[in-house]
Amino acid sequence: MPTICITNQKGGCGKTMTAINLGAGLARQDQRVLLVDLDPQGPLAAGLGVTLPEDLLPLAPAILDRLLGRIVVPTPTAGLWVVPSDTSLDAQALYKKPPTTIRRALRALEQPFDFIVLDTPPNLDLVTLNAIMAADWLMLPCDVDKESLIPSDFVVHSFRPPMEAAMSRWWSQLE
Ligand SMILES: Nc1ncnc2c1ncn2[C@@H]1O[C@H](COP(=O)(O)OP(=O)(O)OP(=O)(O)O)[C@@H](O)[C@H]1O
Ligand SMILES: [Mg+2]
Repeated sequence: MPTICITNQKGGCGKTMTAINLGAGLARQDQRVLLVDLDPQGPLAAGLGVTLPEDLLPLAPAILDRLLGRIVVPTPTAGLWVVPSDTSLDAQALYKKPPTTIRRALRALEQPFDFIVLDTPPNLDLVTLNAIMAADWLMLPCDVDKESLIPSDFVVHSFRPPMEAAMSRWWSQLE
């Protein structure tokens, strides 16, 4: 499933707004879209007007146990579903886990989606690294000023070495 990660270390630059509008726009084009909120602040489902069931499995164990399909919630927009976030996905949740943990959890989804859109927190942490590793495309929203462009550059340069290391591990496993 094509997966788009919306990311930037800079806070408040429009990541969540881009994820919501991109998801809704693709759904309007008759695509089945899953928005995955990976920001423990968890604003995405609320922004979509979704009321969450009280007994929903928290996000971190859903990722670790590859049970994301259990917390896919429909939104009021046809063709658009959301995996809501919560504070279980804190900085420690993916500690000592492979950077492909979220990728593997997404691959285990049984529901068919045409696109998966990942919204990330404003951090260069393990959640963001995992989200980038799970993505086919990255989108880095930013304001057009120096203060915004510098963190965008950090994202690319900070994640290049761990991404390359992980890629070479994959290749060596495949060979
Ligand atoms: N294209 C836009 N035009 C005008 N306002 C926008 C646009 N995109 C986002 N905003 C506003 O900017 C604010 C921050 O947007 P948003 O929450 O999407 O940023 P974010 O990068 O997800 O923030 P955080 O890093 O805290 O997760 C919001 O109030 C939102 O309404
Ligand atoms: Mg956000």
